[in-house]
Amino acid sequence: MDLLKNKIKAEGVVLSETVLKVDSFLNHQVDPELMVEIGKEFAQRFKDQGITKVLTIESSGIAPGVMTALQLEVPLVFARKKKSLTLSEGILSSKVYSFTKKEENTISISHKYIQNDDRVLLIDDFLANGQAALGLIDLVKQAGAEVAGIGIVIEKAFQDGGKLVRETGYRVESLAEIQSLENGQVQFKQEEAKV
Ligand code: G4P
Repeated sequence: MDLLKNKIKAEGVVLSETVLKVDSFLNHQVDPELMVEIGKEFAQRFKDQGITKVLTIESSGIAPGVMTALQLEVPLVFARKKKSLTLSEGILSSKVYSFTKKEENTISISHKYIQNDDRVLLIDDFLANGQAALGLIDLVKQAGAEVAGIGIVIEKAFQDGGKLVRETGYRVESLAEIQSLENGQVQFKQEEAKV
């Protein structure tokens, strides 16, 4: 998705060979117009999948997730990382280990909002080690629902997540695939293929 790649080139900050900071449009400040376009792109790619719910994880998945749900005309559900005061009955939970942050989170949803007749599109902002996506897949399975596909805004193709998640057999669509962050430069996958 060129609009997204151009935004990453213009505003992304390479913090190290493994971490890209995109706080100006995705992880802290949010660019609503870009999110609308991201929502349209995911909706276009998954429109024939009979999706009934979009599922993401708080917090940075919510903006692209809600715009995708808007385009597909279905609700968005976001998994919580912290216990909610009001979320108490019929909770489904999965443990997600973050290699980046070296911490384990328990992510939870209410079974009420993902039921066994749902076809669920998973959306997340980053695909790094894949643990978050695997946790979401686990929640959908616990609900007895179907994963209809996985949409990722930025995939770091040099980390293991893409392989791990694709091994599940579900369709994964990433809007920007980063091949490398070496030498302070963002190199996208397609660019490398053209060389
Ligand atoms: P995973 O999401 O593929 O399982 O990978 P990992 O556990 O390593 O990622 C943990 C958190 O770090 C996630 O956010 C993920 O989006 C984020 N992350 C991973 N790599 C990068 C990166 O290169 N740049 C940025 N900006 N974020 C990265 P989170 O903790 O869920 O945060 P948030 O959604 O509350 O913002």
